[in-house]
Amino acid sequence: MKEQTQATRRDFLKTSGVVAAGLGAVGGLGIARSAHAQGSDLIKIALVGCGGRGRGAVQDRLDVGDNVKLVAVADVFEGQAKNAANAFKGLNENEKYQGKVDVGDNVFFGFDAYKHAIDACDEVLIATPPGFRPVHYAYAVNKGKDVFLEKPLATDSAGFRSLMESNKIADEKNLKVVVGLQRRHGTDYNAWINKIQEGAIGDVVYTRVYWNGGDIWYRGRGQDQAEMEFQVNNWYHFVWLCGDNICEQHIHNLDIGNWIHGKGDKLAHPVKAYGMGGLQVRDKVPNKQGEIYDHHAVEFEYADGSRMISQCRQIPGTWSSVSEHVHGTKGFGGNCWLKTGDENWRAPGSQNHFKLEHVHHVKAIRENIAINDGWHGAISTMISIFGRLATYSGAALSWDDAVNKGFSQFPYDKELTWNAEPPILPKDGKYASALPGVFKAY
Ligand SMILES: NC(=O)c1ccc[n+]([C@@H]2O[C@H](COP(=O)([O-])OP(=O)(O)OC[C@H]3O[C@@H](n4cnc5c(N)ncnc54)[C@H](O)[C@@H]3O)[C@@H](O)[C@H]2O)c1
Repeated sequence: MKEQTQATRRDFLKTSGVVAAGLGAVGGLGIARSAHAQGSDLIKIALVGCGGRGRGAVQDRLDVGDNVKLVAVADVFEGQAKNAANAFKGLNENEKYQGKVDVGDNVFFGFDAYKHAIDACDEVLIATPPGFRPVHYAYAVNKGKDVFLEKPLATDSAGFRSLMESNKIADEKNLKVVVGLQRRHGTDYNAWINKIQEGAIGDVVYTRVYWNGGDIWYRGRGQDQAEMEFQVNNWYHFVWLCGDNICEQHIHNLDIGNWIHGKGDKLAHPVKAYGMGGLQVRDKVPNKQGEIYDHHAVEFEYADGSRMISQCRQIPGTWSSVSEHVHGTKGFGGNCWLKTGDENWRAPGSQNHFKLEHVHHVKAIRENIAINDGWHGAISTMISIFGRLATYSGAALSWDDAVNKGFSQFPYDKELTWNAEPPILPKDGKYASALPGVFKAY
C-alpha cells in the first residue's frame, strides 16, 4: 500500500502540458506514442475512483474482454482503495474472472494516487467525482493510455477547455477513448437517431429531455472531519466537484437531445441558453446542507432555430421522468420510437448499454479502430455547464461566452491537500447557493 504525495501546480503543468495561458492551452508534449496493446496482447487495466460506478465499470470491462488484467487501483481515500482491492481479489475465486485480477501492491491512495495507477496500466477507467476528470484525463493521454471516462467530464468552462485539448492529444496519439454516456453505445438509440437523421419525421423542430426524480444520497459530516474531506466525500452537493445535478445526471438526456439536433456533427452545440431553477426543498431537510440546486429548467436554442427543452429535478413526491422526446415537421417520437401519420416504428431492443460501451472499446483497441467519445463527452458536459450557468444567473447566455469566460471554480492551480480550503466554505453551517439576478455567469 502506498500513500502518494499531493498534486502540485508544478506537477500538473509538467504532466498535462498546460501552459501559462491557462487550462485551455494543453499542448502536445512530444511524449512518444505509447506502444499500447493491440491484437491479442494482454491489456493491463487500472481503476481510478473506487466507488460504486468504478467497481461496476471494472466488472463490465472484465466481463467483456479476454486477456485483460486489473493491475492497479487508486482512490483519494485509503479505505476505498483497500476495500476495492479486496473485493476485486475476491473475484478471482469466480471461475469467470480467474487470472483477470492481480493488483498486488498497486493499491494507491491520496490526491496523487491516480498518477501511479495510470503509470501501471495500458488502459485506465476513471470514475472519480467529475471535477477531477480534466486533470486525470490530461495525465492519461499525455502518458499515452487508452481511457474510459465516466460522465460528466468536468464541472466548469476551464475544465471543458482542457478536455478539448486532451481530445486532440488523444487523436494525435491514436488513443481509444470511450465515455460512460452509455446510450450512445446502444443499438436501440443508434437505430432511432439514424432514422430521425434520415428524415423520418421531417425537420426536427424541438426536443424535450428530462431527468426528473426524487432526492439523492447525502454523506453526513464525520466527527472532526476537515472541510476538504467532508466535501470530497460528499461530492454530489458541491459544484466544483459535481457540477450540480444538471451536469451529473441530466447530461445523459442532454447528450441525446444534442445528438439529434447535431445531425451527425460531433461538435454541434446550442448557441443560446435561457434557464431558471433553484434550491427549494433539499435545504429545508435538517443536516442536508449543500450548494447545488434541486431543480433546473432550460431552453437551449440552436443556430437553425430549433430548441431543446430540458428539465431536471431531485424533489421527492414530484412526477418522475427520465426520457428524451423529439418533434419534427412530419412526426414525433420518444426514446427509441417514432410516429408519422398512422405509422408507428420502434427500434429493436439493445444489449445492455453498460456492457456494449466496453465491447466497443475492446474492439477498437484490439482492431485499431478509431474511437474518441471524448469529443461528444466534452461537448455534452459543456452543454450541462452552459445550462447551469443560465439557471444560476437567470441571464440569456451565449455559448461562446460561456465556453471562453464561464465562471470556473475548480482549484486547478492550487495544491490539493486534506488541509487545503475548498473553493466554497459554509457560513453558520450553511452554503450559499447561486442567486439568479446576482450570480454572474461570466
Ligand atoms: N454512466 C452512468 O450511468 C453512471 C452511473 C453512476 C455514476 N456515474 C458517474 O461515475 C462517477 C462516480 O460516481 P459513483 O456513483 O461511483 O460515486 P462514488 O462516490 O461511489 O465513487 C467515487 C469514488 O471516487 C473517489 N475519489 C474522489 N476523489 C478522488 C480523487 N481525486 N482521486 C481518486 N479517487 C477519488 C471517492 O473516494 C469514491 O471512492 C461520477 O462521475 C458519476 O456521475 C455514471
